[in-house]
Amino acid sequence: MNPEQQRARRVEFVPPRYVDADLDDLSGAVRQRLEGFENLTGLYLWGDVRLGKTHILAALANHLVAAGRLIKWISFGDFLAAVRATYHENALSTEQTLMDTVMSAEYLFIDDLGAECPSDKPASDFACQSLFRVLNARGNAEIPTYISSNKPISAIGQNYDPRIEYRLREYAELPVSGTPRRREGDIGR
Ligand SMILES: Nc1ncnc2c1ncn2[C@@H]1O[C@H](COP(=O)(O)OP(=O)(O)OP(=O)(O)O)[C@@H](O)[C@H]1O
Ligand SMILES: [Mg+2]
Repeated sequence: MNPEQQRARRVEFVPPRYVDADLDDLSGAVRQRLEGFENLTGLYLWGDVRLGKTHILAALANHLVAAGRLIKWISFGDFLAAVRATYHENALSTEQTLMDTVMSAEYLFIDDLGAECPSDKPASDFACQSLFRVLNARGNAEIPTYISSNKPISAIGQNYDPRIEYRLREYAELPVSGTPRRREGDIGR
């Protein structure tokens, strides 16, 4: 595959904005922490806004896609909305189909976990059950899950469920720190 074909293939999997994210963009310290990531049970990246969490996830995803692996990328809030949309009469897909896809994907990337839930409120039963089913199925099948969030695992435990926190504690945890990046095209300070 030439570079253009590779890029076109990556666009099928990761959000277009992050299609050029590459492991080489990451700092040496982060790259070192990510060594052997393909074999992890899971990875939990968390930190403040605009520190490059999604970029890191995308760099991992792009690396796997280039190696011919099958990945599934979801933004958690959008995924829940897509599942809810299957309840409509003329829905094109079923809840089970969507759930099966994420429960069994060879590699699953969940961007923005917890963003759909205000910090001081519990997540809905629906969000809790959906997340638990996904994490539990993947843990039992020993297939890796890579997550980004603005919240530490303890806050996810409080928003969702202690059983979800317990599963996330099995993952490698990577706090992301640094200086927030400006959006391309931002001007001024
Ligand atoms: N290592 C990097 N090299 C080049 N560009 C980067 C790098 N990290 C992040 N960026 C760019 O900086 C911007 C912010 O990064 P990103 O969207 O990954 O942050 P985030 O932590 O996911 O933010 P949020 O919490 O709002 O979701 C993006 O446009 C991204 O492509
Ligand atoms: Mg992000």
